[in-house]
Amino acid sequence: MSRRAVAPTVLPIVRLGHPALRTPARTLSTAELATPETQALIDDMLETMVDADGVGLAAPQVGEELQLFVYGVEADPEDDIENGAEGRAAIPQQAVINPMLDPEGGELVYDWEGCLSIPGLRGLVPRHQAVRLRGLDRAGRPIDRRVEGFEARIVQHEFDHLNGVIFLDRMRDLQSLTYAEEAEEHLDERDASTPGPGPGFAG
Ligand code: NI
Repeated sequence: MSRRAVAPTVLPIVRLGHPALRTPARTLSTAELATPETQALIDDMLETMVDADGVGLAAPQVGEELQLFVYGVEADPEDDIENGAEGRAAIPQQAVINPMLDPEGGELVYDWEGCLSIPGLRGLVPRHQAVRLRGLDRAGRPIDRRVEGFEARIVQHEFDHLNGVIFLDRMRDLQSLTYAEEAEEHLDERDASTPGPGPGFAG
């Protein structure tokens, strides 16, 4: 029999106010990770992330207080041209379980972020340029690798979700906090030296 009889489901994404977003998530045992239920949850989370146009999604965002997040980026050249953003390399869809992050030293890098649990808002968030990511993949195999740039930003955002931390907590101040839709309407009034949120990301 197949691992799963039905296609992945788009799950409801909880929004700020749901206690799971402010509760540290618990670790998963390797036995639990191997269950059809957890494997189905991973499939559903990937489906939910893509459906919501996100690049990452953490289990607490679907109300599951587990140390688990998924991420992945599809290259979208059209979007990049429209928004004047630099081309973004695709990142394969993957899951990370029981993650640990060790930031590399150096200056923090600012860029726009959004969150699927805080729809519509974008803000400038400082993050480490590179981190060492450890944990397990969905098959229970160890992950230990360096991630940098956009991928490092996604991983730091999703890791925060497992500890009850959201991107607003990481903003140095709230001056840049912006509704993406509102900013879109004022593109032509903006000084080119202060670019607003482009495609940004939501995770
Ligand atoms: Ni988020």
